[in-house]
Amino acid sequence: MSHRRAALVGAGHTRFGALDEGPRKLLRDAVDRAFESVDRGMPRGQVDEAFLASLGFSGWQLGNASALLAEEAGTHQIPVTRVENACASSGFALRAAVRAIESGQCDRVLVAGLEKMTDAPSRRRRYWLGVSGDTEWERLAGLTFAGVYALMASRYLHDYSAPREALAEVAVKNHENGALNPNAHFQKPVSREKALSAPMVADPLRLMDCCPVSDGAAALLLVGEEHARSYTDSPVFVAGTGAGSDSLALQDRESLVHLAATRRAADEAFRHAGFERKAVSFLEVHDCFTIAELLAIEDLGFAKAGQAGRLTLSGATRRDGSLPVNPDGGLKAKGHPIGATGASQVYEVFLQLRGQAGARQLKSPTKALTHNVGGSGASATVTLFTAG
Ligand code: COA
Repeated sequence: MSHRRAALVGAGHTRFGALDEGPRKLLRDAVDRAFESVDRGMPRGQVDEAFLASLGFSGWQLGNASALLAEEAGTHQIPVTRVENACASSGFALRAAVRAIESGQCDRVLVAGLEKMTDAPSRRRRYWLGVSGDTEWERLAGLTFAGVYALMASRYLHDYSAPREALAEVAVKNHENGALNPNAHFQKPVSREKALSAPMVADPLRLMDCCPVSDGAAALLLVGEEHARSYTDSPVFVAGTGAGSDSLALQDRESLVHLAATRRAADEAFRHAGFERKAVSFLEVHDCFTIAELLAIEDLGFAKAGQAGRLTLSGATRRDGSLPVNPDGGLKAKGHPIGATGASQVYEVFLQLRGQAGARQLKSPTKALTHNVGGSGASATVTLFTAG
């Protein structure tokens, strides 16, 4: 399908982690860095629409958070919409921005993702981490979010006789990548032994199988393709987007070992982009728990059902492998400030496809995929990018 493409010309990112800064400062820093990253500059007054992605974790700004983006971004008076799709909020905000540009209704759009999570005391955190799942059955049964993914992991290990070591290998690889990312929550490698013997959180998931609770923000600037080269010589084009949804609760799904929303989103994105999976140089997938990375590789169509563990153990998903996955450390090591995660994945794509990823730079990537999941798979977006 031929369409007016959206081009990424700027991207900004704060450090992820347990940070002193409040949400306003995080948002302002990410947006400022996005504007500063535009090679030939972009006056703020040129932006015609903006989207703020945030769950509003622990209730820091329950309503009208979008007004905050306009204020902190210095883009007063333009329309700003808040997008809340749990952990996939900024993936969906990006999709809305891309569609606004593809339709010709907007020329320049700002997308910002933000979450401030560590202010909340631990009991409150557990409460908020569950609000994106099924609150009638899963919550009543006492399931935490890690518990939901633990059910999926148990089923996966059982159905495919997959080695438990594959989950640990996801953590080891992502921590190794995170150690090279100055914005990552955790910047220390983790040994296999440590990953396999970390304290149990929800059997079979241990501490090293879980993403942390993080603060942070990321922001993106997109323009219509005909404007791209007036901002930079190396834009990154959005080649295709896809999205899908599924039942909130696990018991209502056809399977515990695949995410239908991811499959649908991937198929739509590849149809839209008009190229095949083998053209993709690397993946940024939603590894909120190590099992989620294995499911993502399969549901996105890069491994057969039950094979992603073996692919991971073979080293193929490392930075020097045939299909690098999460070169920025993923949610596991880089951190997961809910509303910021989808935009953060795109920030990595922006750096990698422009050869600006420093110590973790991949060898000449040309096309990339981002995959952002809401809840335990109730919503998902997939976006495909190509270097300009
Ligand atoms: N991976 C590795 N180390 C972690 C970690 C993680 N996910 N989470 C915490 N740690 C480390 C901390 O840095 C700290 O180390 P230190 O003692 O050397 O300083 C130690 O473990 C204890 O940290 P604490 O914050 O007290 O951990 P916790 O027990 O309160 O929380 C989890 C651990 C796994 C329960 C929590 O990180 C969690 O709930 N993660 C999942 C978040 C989630 O569900 N997000 C939405 C997904 S869709």
